[in-house]
Amino acid sequence: MRDYHEFLSEVLISEDALRQRITELGATISKDYADKGPLILVCILRGGVLFLTDLIRKISIPHAIEFMGVSSYGVGGRESSGRVRLTLDLGVDIAGKNVLLVEDIIDSGRTIDAVMNLLATRGPASINVCTLLDKAERREVDVPIKYIGFSIPNKFVFGYGLDLDDYYRNLPFIGVVDLEKYSPE
Ligand code: PRP
Repeated sequence: MRDYHEFLSEVLISEDALRQRITELGATISKDYADKGPLILVCILRGGVLFLTDLIRKISIPHAIEFMGVSSYGVGGRESSGRVRLTLDLGVDIAGKNVLLVEDIIDSGRTIDAVMNLLATRGPASINVCTLLDKAERREVDVPIKYIGFSIPNKFVFGYGLDLDDYYRNLPFIGVVDLEKYSPE
């Protein structure tokens, strides 16, 4: 694989800025959900994994975690296909529980909209959304987002869970790709 320095045009959100904002989000979520009943954080695979694992370490109230697999982009694709496919369902019943969906990025809004509609049929006490990144300029479906880490411009971003043709999710920061210098191998 190519070294990401070859096509990184800028670091949009540094490791320090991520850590600081996630600490704030964890504190806010802990306060908002205190004494509200069972809380379950549902991470949408795969991009949200790094965010989830850092976020839960900053949440001080009891909670469970679960995972859902949803795919909205074709393999290696960069644009939403407009279709959302469930690849992994929850392993538990969410009836009567407070569900907090954890995403890395909300772009068109189609993925989170489909997930919310599906989970709403299962009788949860509440469903809210926590996204690390919000690319509002690209929105096609209006979705309510309770917690936003960072609002970002319409740039192609990668790192910290977000992939570039399936790689580079491990980078500790959010970077912007220079598309003139990048092409999949
Ligand atoms: C990304 C991201 C969101 C979705 C956002 O997932 O993690 O789930 O796209 O786009 P939308 O708002 O236009 O629906 P992707 O399908 O790329 O899968 P991944 O998380 O496994 O990389």
